[in-house]
Amino acid sequence: MKDRESYIPDEEWQRFLDFSRDLETPCIVINLEAIKRNYREIQELFPYSDIYYALKANPEKRIVQLLAEMGANFDLASPAELDLVLSHGVDGSRVSYGNTIKKAKDIAYFYKNGVRMFATDSKEDLKNIAVEAPGSRVYIRILVESASTADWPLSRKFGCHPDMAYDLAIAARDHGLVPYGISFHVGSQQRDIGQWDDAIAKTKYLFSSLEEDEDIKLQMINMGGGFPAPYRQPANPLTEYASEIKRYLTDDFGDDFPRIVLEPGRSLVGSSGILVSEVVLVSRKNNTALNRWVYIDAGRYNGLLETLDEAIKYPLFTSKDSADVKENEVIIAGPTCDSMDILYEQHKYRMPVDLKIGDRVYFLSTGAYTGSCASVNFNGFAPIKTYFME
Ligand SMILES: Cc1ncc(COP(=O)(O)O)c(C=O)c1O
Repeated sequence: MKDRESYIPDEEWQRFLDFSRDLETPCIVINLEAIKRNYREIQELFPYSDIYYALKANPEKRIVQLLAEMGANFDLASPAELDLVLSHGVDGSRVSYGNTIKKAKDIAYFYKNGVRMFATDSKEDLKNIAVEAPGSRVYIRILVESASTADWPLSRKFGCHPDMAYDLAIAARDHGLVPYGISFHVGSQQRDIGQWDDAIAKTKYLFSSLEEDEDIKLQMINMGGGFPAPYRQPANPLTEYASEIKRYLTDDFGDDFPRIVLEPGRSLVGSSGILVSEVVLVSRKNNTALNRWVYIDAGRYNGLLETLDEAIKYPLFTSKDSADVKENEVIIAGPTCDSMDILYEQHKYRMPVDLKIGDRVYFLSTGAYTGSCASVNFNGFAPIKTYFME
């Protein structure tokens, strides 16, 4: 395993340990400074883009407040998310309704609150937008085949074939809407940068053919999220993504790009969080078993949903770690009475052989898709609490 310092510098780690020492587990500690840093880095690396934070990654109020103050826009999926950002003084003009699956009454609610930018990928949804949000800008989400190289794929469920996107752009115009642009999402934690190349090429084809054949001039590309957070599986640094994506855009669109929108979630808040858990039990299934089972008080139902299929492999450290500690393989499981609540069995984590009940296990990079994905009260285990370090 990579050493802890390659994820978090010593000084920050020490500050986190001091801050979390007396907190009851399980909990998540968010370092707001890390979010600020990440936001600025994305701004610097993609200076030609507008950032729409994908709120679902972490809708904690302190994070909304921070990003609203830093000038971020918001990519939202439901009326409750809209209420949340409006309550922090964000105007509807800074919001995009990015969910392609939505009720007519929810479209009306967004429109009433000043939102004028809507994603779509189907005829029926487009009709609803035309009725409930007349004259709005619509952007059409296309399918991209990227599932095998993204750790958390998003294809299949969202998007339509480019031929259908072409028809939807025409239908949008005919319904009195503004056919504004094309969107795609190459899959979350996308570790193959080349996936943006294919998606941008498909987008370019739509821009050109709609202009040439229908006199429809699209104005915007929404490149979604997909940028990485630091987990165990290696990913390129964001600088590499930025330079490659700029090259793809320039190859297809020349120097004069359309408006570019990014919707980072994971890459913006993932690295800010550390989930703190405690060992509930260490046991073996028979006297000669080589593997130990380590049961902790956090699991799939209270913060670690993205361990489903062992998709996201968080960097793990324990309170017993040291330079010369003796380790062996473990299976790691959560506290509930559900056998689905096994976090890692195929992927072999190693932990200190003297790990005991009451020791702490730290999950790094747990700022995204953790707290808000916890169940309400399964088995009586409350949703995980979040604390903030300035
Ligand atoms: C439409 C949309 N935009 C942005 C995101 C954020 O993606 P990521 O967390 O990979 O940055 C998602 C994630 O599911 C999404 O569905």
